[in-house]
Amino acid sequence: MPIRDILRMGDARLLQVAEKVDVFDTSELHALVTDLIETMHANDGAGLAAPQIGVNLQVVVFGVESNPRYPDAEVVPFTVLVNPVLTALSEEVEEGWEGCLSLPGLRGKVPRHTRLRYSGFDQFGQAIAREVSGFHARVVQHETDHLWGILYPRRIRDLRNFGFSDVLSPERTA
Ligand code: NI
Repeated sequence: MPIRDILRMGDARLLQVAEKVDVFDTSELHALVTDLIETMHANDGAGLAAPQIGVNLQVVVFGVESNPRYPDAEVVPFTVLVNPVLTALSEEVEEGWEGCLSLPGLRGKVPRHTRLRYSGFDQFGQAIAREVSGFHARVVQHETDHLWGILYPRRIRDLRNFGFSDVLSPERTA
């Protein structure tokens, strides 16, 4: 399957609310998941959401083993997540640096809930339910935001903490 083009910020398709998947284990859904995985890996992404390749469905993939874009990141198990529901498990919010394949070359410091529960399904319709924290929780919040039409700059509290990765000083992004 092909590596797909990733839509960039400014494209109105990134601002839509994605539709729920209502039939699982179809050839169309498997093909979409394959394209998401291949496109994510080809771009060294930590995650990718279907709207980023122009498909308006509630499907995300994510996972971090060793990723050159996130060299110090903790491991996040590779996951295909369809129709996700997130529930914060604490009011605690932590700011951390994020990038996004739809905003190439940029980074921003984004507040996210530190602990949450997420549920949903894999592409076969098997239920997924996890309680996570830290970077795993951050990645899930970033990817599911794409399904609600939200790109991370909307979450940045102080736009001084937003800029080009190759310009931001390492002390600031540590
Ligand atoms: Ni993103």
